[in-house]
Amino acid sequence: MGKGKHEKWAFNKTLSNVYEPDIKGVVGGGSVNKGMWAERAFGNDQPITLELGCGKGEYTVALARLHPERNFIGVDIKGHRFWRGAKTAHEEGLKNVAFLRTRIEFVQNFFSAGEISEIWLTFSDPQPKDQKGTKRITSAVFLKRYRDFMQPHGLVHVKSDSPWIYACAQEDWPEAGFAIEESSDDVYGDLVHRVPADFAEVLHIKTFYEQMWLEQGRKIHYLRTHV
Ligand SMILES: C[S@@+](CC[C@H](N)C(=O)[O-])C[C@H]1O[C@@H](n2cnc3c(N)ncnc32)[C@H](O)[C@@H]1O
Repeated sequence: MGKGKHEKWAFNKTLSNVYEPDIKGVVGGGSVNKGMWAERAFGNDQPITLELGCGKGEYTVALARLHPERNFIGVDIKGHRFWRGAKTAHEEGLKNVAFLRTRIEFVQNFFSAGEISEIWLTFSDPQPKDQKGTKRITSAVFLKRYRDFMQPHGLVHVKSDSPWIYACAQEDWPEAGFAIEESSDDVYGDLVHRVPADFAEVLHIKTFYEQMWLEQGRKIHYLRTHV
């Protein structure tokens, strides 16, 4: 039988690449490493990519393997999910990977202006009742928040099985001034065949949820903008 949540939470506490600040403190404006992630968490000055709602952290870990010249932080509220990625990074000795446990609603507490260069939003919850986009982390409302701590022209990538996420972004992003640089409603039938080989390799990384949706025959969508 696999490990339970309590064992995973306990293991996370032993890892130096996992940050799990007290939630009440974060709600009150608390942070860790703000403006100092590269130096404190990674001991370098490399650019940082976030995966928000990282689940088991597949993109975070796979991107870190492909790009040792960058740093990667997986963010999720569920520590027992990113336990998987944190453990793999620890076992493989990947020094450019960290995980942060927080709600994405408070992610701006953790980073200073210009600290983040890229964001991946992988198989985010679609929040179909959220017309205003205040819960859907791929919405223009959230892009405006991310812009506060991203470098100018920083990239935001969305990979999703959800036609709703895809349609909302196509409507809301340009209206809010976020031009769509690239989009496809069929990553494996279309996009991977017309992008440079190094980016096709990145698109081929498959998350836990992506595997599930592919097995059900769903198409995978992709969008990118810069903030
Ligand atoms: C559908 S899962 C996708 C996980 C992973 N990206 C994947 O593709 O396998 C959504 C993830 O987002 C996390 N999540 C959802 N809303 C969140 C929020 N407001 N703050 C932090 N994490 C959140 C959930 O805990 C979950 O792990």
